[in-house]
Amino acid sequence: MRRIAQETINRVLEEVDIFEVISQYVDLKKRGKNYFGLSPFRSETKPSFSVAPDKNMWYDFGSGQGGNAVQFLIEYEKISFSEAIRSLAEKHNIEIIEVGDEQQSNLYDKLYEIHNLTNIFFINNLSSNKGMKAKSYMQDRSFDDTILKKLSIGFATDSWDQLYNELKDKFDNEVIEKSGLFSKGKRGYIDRFRNRIMFPFFSPSGKVIGFSGRSLSDKEDVKYLNSPETLLFQKSKVFYGSYQTMPEIRKQNYVLLVEGQTDFLRLYEKGFTNVLATSGTAFSSKHAAALNKYTNRVILTYDSDNAGINAAIRTGYILMQNGFEVRVIDLQDGLDPDDFFKSPTNDTASFKKLIKDAVHPINYIINKKNILEKGASERSKFLNECINEIKNIIDVIIRNDLIKRLSNELSVAESEILSRFNSAKIKKTVNSKSVEHENTSIEHFSSKAEKAQLEILKLIIHNPELSKNIPSTLFNNKLFYNIMKSIKDHIGKYSNVAQLLEFIGSSPEERNLVALLAVDKIETENEKIILEDCIQALEREQIKKQVLDLRNEIKLIEESGKLAPETLVNKLVSLQRSIS
Ligand code: CTP
Ligand code: MN
Repeated sequence: MRRIAQETINRVLEEVDIFEVISQYVDLKKRGKNYFGLSPFRSETKPSFSVAPDKNMWYDFGSGQGGNAVQFLIEYEKISFSEAIRSLAEKHNIEIIEVGDEQQSNLYDKLYEIHNLTNIFFINNLSSNKGMKAKSYMQDRSFDDTILKKLSIGFATDSWDQLYNELKDKFDNEVIEKSGLFSKGKRGYIDRFRNRIMFPFFSPSGKVIGFSGRSLSDKEDVKYLNSPETLLFQKSKVFYGSYQTMPEIRKQNYVLLVEGQTDFLRLYEKGFTNVLATSGTAFSSKHAAALNKYTNRVILTYDSDNAGINAAIRTGYILMQNGFEVRVIDLQDGLDPDDFFKSPTNDTASFKKLIKDAVHPINYIINKKNILEKGASERSKFLNECINEIKNIIDVIIRNDLIKRLSNELSVAESEILSRFNSAKIKKTVNSKSVEHENTSIEHFSSKAEKAQLEILKLIIHNPELSKNIPSTLFNNKLFYNIMKSIKDHIGKYSNVAQLLEFIGSSPEERNLVALLAVDKIETENEKIILEDCIQALEREQIKKQVLDLRNEIKLIEESGKLAPETLVNKLVSLQRSIS
């Protein structure tokens, strides 16, 4: 695997101004030396997200996460480490030096490249003579050039090998094969997508990673053909349109979730630009985890046919189980969002009304399944089904809200629901952890010794030179010890905390704690005295422990009827004297 050289990482973390990076996303106000703003990772009303410009670090007191500018982008933009470094390096004109095995990362680069060239090729097809049929198809569906451009939509011609011939000399077979853009027939490779409108999918940093192609004729067996799973394209995680709409979703703090590309295009074109499509695939917990960084409020706008209704119910539960606030729009009569706007009586105002009237999933289910008209045993069965789903909701507030709603709607006492709830078996959601955070809080550490160790860590994080005179053996807490060791081991290789973090390895617990200590206030004037005090306190703690051990040892010997050796007793006396 090819890696970005440490010197490049160091340069990025030195030259990038964390205030500049984060203030693009978070409104920051100065308070003392640091800046504060509302956490971009949680919804909150009191600012608990802090940025320390002098340390080039951030820490979010709400979620207990922190780090440097690179880690902020990774968390916020949901991009990889190398994407984050690359994006920062590009903005600051820092040359990216790579080291290590060329092959693997070459494959990734080549896959991105082949997708990029393919996309350009499809776009050119659509605007050329070959694409006239496709263009008029889109025009007939009233999708104009502006929206086609905005989403980089293209066309794959009705040919077995147009794309293959274009690319075969530019890429070797491994790349051709792993791109998912071709199928292997008896006589070699053929184009996977033929005679289809091509909708590209983008990575969070805007690179094409896969396609969905809509057949031009409704007679075709497969209406939508998608890229297969590849190194770049994983269906359980991607949303169609996310690259284009995530900023708007974040801004409006809710998303309209639709089933397909054309529904996406229609809402987008009508000005509802906070939209995402799942591309027909089932909504997964991974989708929820990806979405969670942008918003925790979803309005489901699925097709109102049977499949769509069932999908809305399923997705509603998955979202609630992952802490989302969910509402459902009922388009009625089997319509999808695209169909909705075909009716001359429907306009943006009528869709806005639908958004306003969107209902809670529980009300949606009760309504769609006509639960209230059913007999007692059916209603009881329904209640049990709901309880089984609610069991998997971690968030107590969402859970209680659901129980209240069920109680109201079904006219069943809350106490009855709760008693059924408590006797139902807990099913664990596999991915429920995926949207939780590793939480680090100083309050966890309450003993005198832990407090002293934390204080020392804080001092040496601010001034690594101080660590030279501190014996690692003073640290009896594994988390603290590891951080201390990283600081000592890498001294001289980093010039600020932000860079140090890149040596700390992959433990989020260590990273978050370092970030927390880095943004914390510090008294630099008396640092030597404080350090001495802490070291002394820890040494005393250690001696106290030795004294206890010695006493026990001596007691055991004496209990067996023997006399304790003089050396032991002397040692005990001198230790006791040293701390009295
Ligand atoms: N889909 C798919 N494969 C299929 C059918 C559908 O991947 N064979 C996905 C597509 O992303 C599609 C979505 O599921 O957009 C919803 O399917 P459907 O409702 O059948 O299509 P529409 O979105 O209504 O598409 P159109 O308006 O173009 O007919
Ligand atoms: Mn449709």
